[in-house]
Amino acid sequence: MTERTGFGSKLGVILATAGSAVGLGNVWRFPYMAGENGGAVFIMIYLACVLLLGIPCMISEFIVGRHGQSNTARAYSKLSGGSPWKLVGYMGVLTGFLITGYYAVVTGWCLQYIWASFIGQLQGTPDYFKTYFAELSSDPVRPVLWTFAMLGIAYLIIEHGVRDGIEKASKMMMPTLFILLLIIVVASCMLPNAGKGIEFLFKPDMSKMTGDVFLSALGQSFYSLSIAMGCLCTYASYFSRYTNLTTSATQIAIIDSVVAILAGLMIFPAAFSVGVNPDSGPSLIFITLPNVFSQAFAAIPIVGYFVSLLFFVLLSLAGLTSLMSLHEVSTAFFQEEFTLSRKKAALIVTISTAIIGAFCSLSLGATDNLVFGGKALFDWFDFITGQIFLPVVGFLTCIFIGWFVPHKVVREEFTNWGTLRSEWYARLFHIYLFLVKYICPMAILFIFLHQFGLLK
Ligand code: PHE
Repeated sequence: MTERTGFGSKLGVILATAGSAVGLGNVWRFPYMAGENGGAVFIMIYLACVLLLGIPCMISEFIVGRHGQSNTARAYSKLSGGSPWKLVGYMGVLTGFLITGYYAVVTGWCLQYIWASFIGQLQGTPDYFKTYFAELSSDPVRPVLWTFAMLGIAYLIIEHGVRDGIEKASKMMMPTLFILLLIIVVASCMLPNAGKGIEFLFKPDMSKMTGDVFLSALGQSFYSLSIAMGCLCTYASYFSRYTNLTTSATQIAIIDSVVAILAGLMIFPAAFSVGVNPDSGPSLIFITLPNVFSQAFAAIPIVGYFVSLLFFVLLSLAGLTSLMSLHEVSTAFFQEEFTLSRKKAALIVTISTAIIGAFCSLSLGATDNLVFGGKALFDWFDFITGQIFLPVVGFLTCIFIGWFVPHKVVREEFTNWGTLRSEWYARLFHIYLFLVKYICPMAILFIFLHQFGLLK
């Protein structure tokens, strides 16, 4: 077998994997959920979900990936001794592959918005922003080209390999993203009445806490940490045998959560300052926020101009690092399973996901032929991957690690072959195993049943 190059440094591991985790989900869903569902109380519950369920699931994927030292499909196959568990790995790869195309569409819109901000098009009345987005997303040409552009950028990075491509790019993009985020947070918090937005985000309100909210927090934490999409497993296959899986997972989860909370501090103070009700999803970032920024900084338009521009650069970076991790899942698969050069494998993935992306984009208004059962193809991809594959792969991974893989193997990976020796790791391992065996699968099962209305 040819020698695989992995990440070259600890920082590279953390920034690349955090790059996968920090994505559009941090900006367009978390803040809104927190504000609507009990503020500080929701944030506490979310963090508890991350700590007790997200981190253990992440470690489990790391274990599969690092043990396998290969793409996700083969990693599951190796660890299972070729038994049907390997199908979970194949499903992980398929999930990553299917998401790549439609995630590229959304990140492509971000590129169009960078351009629009740059040429000063993002100014106008609230209705203008609505029409602008509706026209863009239903346009048959522009968003498709932007999707191709985004995938093209991902290709150029991925093609350079793990260390010279993904790691290097992440080391530049993640700190930039963080700085941009801080700049916009400061600008937003300095606006008049910003306090109201901060209150909306953090004011504890127990009355909003229902079972529903708990399950949504759980679902959001999994999506936000990129669990069950093959990404974590693939990246972990590039970790070295010295990478401490527990500390890395914890650091990545902390970065992801801090970015999510900062995103709230970027959005709400500005929104409340101009009295606009924030929402979530694409309409938040492509309609509401451009409007908020243009109104909030109307007194000093140049600041508004830069805030809007920097915001879309930030979103594109967040989206790109996630897109790279998704792209890498399939690239590693094609490269290793069909013994192709990295370039060829990456090209196959880029072209095939570009085709999927183009169809997803066209389904949003350019043609009616891509709407099935009242749902656009784009939404079908979102639904099937996010609501079906994600919980299934996550659940089966926990069962696999908790019940099937010999504990000796799991312990070896967890403690880096006994080199992490202290009492603390022995205890931590038991807690981890307990969570992965019982608590995580049960929690995922609840989310799954809940979202299909089978559990109230
Ligand atoms: N975690 C990313 C986000 O928060 C989304 C994502 C999921 C990216 C799965 C890669 C893989 O937006």
